[in-house]
Amino acid sequence: MDDSTLDFTSSLDVDSQLAFYDVLGSLAHVKMLKKCGILPEEDCDAITGGLKEILSEIEENRYAPDYSLEDIHTNIEFTLTSRIGPAGGRLHTGRSRNDQVATDFKMYLRDRILLAADKLDGLIKCLVDIAADNGNTLMPGFTHMQHAQPVSLAQHMLAHAFRFSRDADRFLDAFERMNKCPLGAAALAGTTYPVDRRMTSDALGFREPTENSMDTVSDRDFVTEIAYCAAQTAIHLSSLSEELVIWSSQEFGFAEMDDRYTTGSSIMPQKKNPDIAELIRGRTGISAGALVSMMMTTKGLPLTYNRDLQEDKKPVMESLSSVISCLNIMARAISTTKFDKKRMEDATRKGQINATDLADYLVSKGIPFREAHGIVGAAVRRSIETGKNLEDMELEELRTFSDRIGPDVYGILPVEKCMERRNSYGGTSPGSTDVQMSLAIEQMMQRDEKIRQESLFIKECWKKLRE
Ligand code: ARG
Repeated sequence: MDDSTLDFTSSLDVDSQLAFYDVLGSLAHVKMLKKCGILPEEDCDAITGGLKEILSEIEENRYAPDYSLEDIHTNIEFTLTSRIGPAGGRLHTGRSRNDQVATDFKMYLRDRILLAADKLDGLIKCLVDIAADNGNTLMPGFTHMQHAQPVSLAQHMLAHAFRFSRDADRFLDAFERMNKCPLGAAALAGTTYPVDRRMTSDALGFREPTENSMDTVSDRDFVTEIAYCAAQTAIHLSSLSEELVIWSSQEFGFAEMDDRYTTGSSIMPQKKNPDIAELIRGRTGISAGALVSMMMTTKGLPLTYNRDLQEDKKPVMESLSSVISCLNIMARAISTTKFDKKRMEDATRKGQINATDLADYLVSKGIPFREAHGIVGAAVRRSIETGKNLEDMELEELRTFSDRIGPDVYGILPVEKCMERRNSYGGTSPGSTDVQMSLAIEQMMQRDEKIRQESLFIKECWKKLRE
């Protein structure tokens, strides 16, 4: 092989990150080869001993791969053989790099999924904490970036929390779907050795072996699905970031991010820039790109393994790292942000934000909604002309729009009332946001339990393999 070919085809830079999982996969494989009597016991014991040694080196960052070998799988097998002799060459019995690489990557991704879901819950907790303190903090709710109806800051923060809650659920759903062991599918058609696929699957903490060998070595939809989970999380993070950026502007002044999480300008001394939020928003490109990259890499591929599949790792690895670091820093940034309640409340009093409430009031007096809509439109026009809010108009003035309006209108027009009275399930009233907070916490607790159990179970499997 020409050096340039090796250089071009090598995946070592990327798959070195799979070293730990690769050795565990091999430990499970050799355990099975021994139990099924496929290899002599003494060979299996020598292989196991050698692998355990390599595993410790990897964990202690002492394992240096050889760049004259094209990937981490080849490297580890080569190291083993150079240490224990020809027995090392028997490890690959009944296995191919095709099922091996799929197994390694699944193990790697399982851990990353659990970490991502855990980090999502960390951020959700920060959002719920803000909500807990702000059930009565008024702010304008926007549609089309126009003042629409008054909401509470709690409602707004919980809206983000539930988006992230779905993201975390999505990761865990992906976990369930992909948690099947490829080992034993071999190159593509299965193997003539009497392997016990159930045994290796159990040893590595998978739910069960994959069903079809050809599907197994060509399947990368688990990678695409995780790339989507990460991209959607990044997109949700970008929305929250965008709001932090706008809210930090002089024009809005709703929020002030803590000095620890903002940056200055090299020339303008007064500047306090929300760079963290902007970078999180900007890094959405990495994650959306990884998703597109996965879809394009796998599009039109014939069954089964094709070398194109080697390109499946880098983008999604980068995407997950990016999303995990964004979640970490966003949790810190948002939980230290100060909200200017006065400014938010003052803003809520602008833009005739209680117009819907006046229309609903007229409906309660027997006027059809469409007609009420027109009446309130006229009142709003007057309000804009005179600069006087609807709630500040005298009863007489209000009655020029409709004689159904009575003094009780002042019980519904104040913006606090507009917010408090929206007490439908999922609405913005303090009672409704209390319910939402318990739902968000319950969802989080269920996930935490699942994450804890799965992580423990995986660690137990690793421990058993090393005994
Ligand atoms: N480095 C390869 C990858 O990541 C390993 C599998 C190679 N298999 C093969 N048939 N060439 O995909």
